[in-house]
Amino acid sequence: MGGLPVSTFKPLDINALLEEIPVMTAFIADYYKDIETYPVRSQVEPGYLRRLLPDSAPRFPEPLTTILDDVRNDILPGLTHWLSPNFFAYFPGSASNPGILGEMLSAALNVVGFNWISSPAATELEMVVMDWMAKFLRLPREFTFSGGGGGVLLGTTCEAIVCTMAAARDAALARIGFEGITKLVIYASDQTHFAFQKASKLVGIPPANFRVIVTSTASEHALPPESVRAAIDEDLARGLVPLYICATVGTTAVGAVDPLAPLGDLAREYGVWLHVDAAYAGACASCVEYGRYFEGLDRADSFSTNCHKWLLSNLDCCCLWVKNPGSLVSSLSTDAEILKNDASEAKQVVDYKDWQISLSRRFRALKLWLVMRRFGADNLMSHIRSDVEMAEQFERMVEMDERFEVVVPRRFALVCFRLRPKKGGPCEMNRKLLEAVNASGRAFMTHAVVEGKYVLRMVVGATLTEERHVYGTWKVIQDMADGIVSEEYQ
Ligand SMILES: Cc1ncc(COP(=O)(O)O)c(C=O)c1O
Repeated sequence: MGGLPVSTFKPLDINALLEEIPVMTAFIADYYKDIETYPVRSQVEPGYLRRLLPDSAPRFPEPLTTILDDVRNDILPGLTHWLSPNFFAYFPGSASNPGILGEMLSAALNVVGFNWISSPAATELEMVVMDWMAKFLRLPREFTFSGGGGGVLLGTTCEAIVCTMAAARDAALARIGFEGITKLVIYASDQTHFAFQKASKLVGIPPANFRVIVTSTASEHALPPESVRAAIDEDLARGLVPLYICATVGTTAVGAVDPLAPLGDLAREYGVWLHVDAAYAGACASCVEYGRYFEGLDRADSFSTNCHKWLLSNLDCCCLWVKNPGSLVSSLSTDAEILKNDASEAKQVVDYKDWQISLSRRFRALKLWLVMRRFGADNLMSHIRSDVEMAEQFERMVEMDERFEVVVPRRFALVCFRLRPKKGGPCEMNRKLLEAVNASGRAFMTHAVVEGKYVLRMVVGATLTEERHVYGTWKVIQDMADGIVSEEYQ
């Protein structure tokens, strides 16, 4: 008779899923139970994994349990454990039960809500959740859909910056003509995240038109408005076109805060786009005691924060709000025949493809919705406050040990400190200290260089961190310092 054999290949098999999900859950639970036993920073050598894995993919299926054994034996040693309670590096990424469950549900539904009709609930939930989050963060009403603005969920702050810069660029070019692109200028500080410089290149601004204003201890490492004004005036006198000011609440190196109110006034006076990047510290906007850092936000054009950093929303989850969604849409919209539909044509709906770089997009709103509903606003705020308290305790311990100094005033849960220099080579001493702590595997921190000073950065924010981990890490630092200080000072 011939004919094809009946296939037994079922890529999405409910019965198998019901068996496999508990296996995966047990694996994850074991990982969390054991997480403190792993060295926080991975200790492998470059290229270690290629030597362990076969050089081609298998021809026949392998059992999940075999693959998880390989994860345990080959992959986990090559991880730096971002969820370790002893992870104090960079800005931590936070995770939570609803964050994980939201990711799982979104993966299972696998909708691609690039426009409203492609999955109406994906778009509408995102709009609701972005307004919820804006209210939780006490943002000016103009950033919400109900206030005439609106928000979108992106993967990262870098994307948010590229999108807002493109919007600002296109609005300016509509005025001055396309050939004017070489005249557009961007203003930032030496503490501004390098993502802005990258975005500026990506949107076609000449690198020479990216002004980096030097900050100092005197300005608390914040962008001084009078220097921005002077730079803008100088550029105008040269026939250039000021385009975009990059302001930050909670800079990456030291947690500095740019003064939003005077920068906002300046931006309005000169018709320049003001973006406020609060990738890390945005979560603090929810707590009234941090309100002063966000004063003047009403004068910004856009604001972004990464909820995967401090708001328990698992990577990736960047919230971007704009006051004038039309400016984003007119820069980023596409009009392909294959996507045409009545709702879009009638302009009744938001099509999020026009608010971002790519077409396809994940259903991230589900995750944020779960996080906000399962925790509630009060728990989210307590979480922020408890991390800040732990950072305060750490700061006090540093201050009590006369060998050390806190180098930059602490604002959030980031403490920048170092061993006090006595004789030449303090950088070397602090570099050695950091490497000794990290090589011990008992904690992981990173560094920054501030006005030529090499400082250690201790950020409390990994979800599993408790007071005992902060105290334990301070003890590790002191023990390591004993050896280094006696070596250096003899
Ligand atoms: C202040 C600030 N801005 C921007 C970024 C870049 O964020 P992303 O990796 O989401 O692009 C970071 C990353 O830590 C940051 O701290």
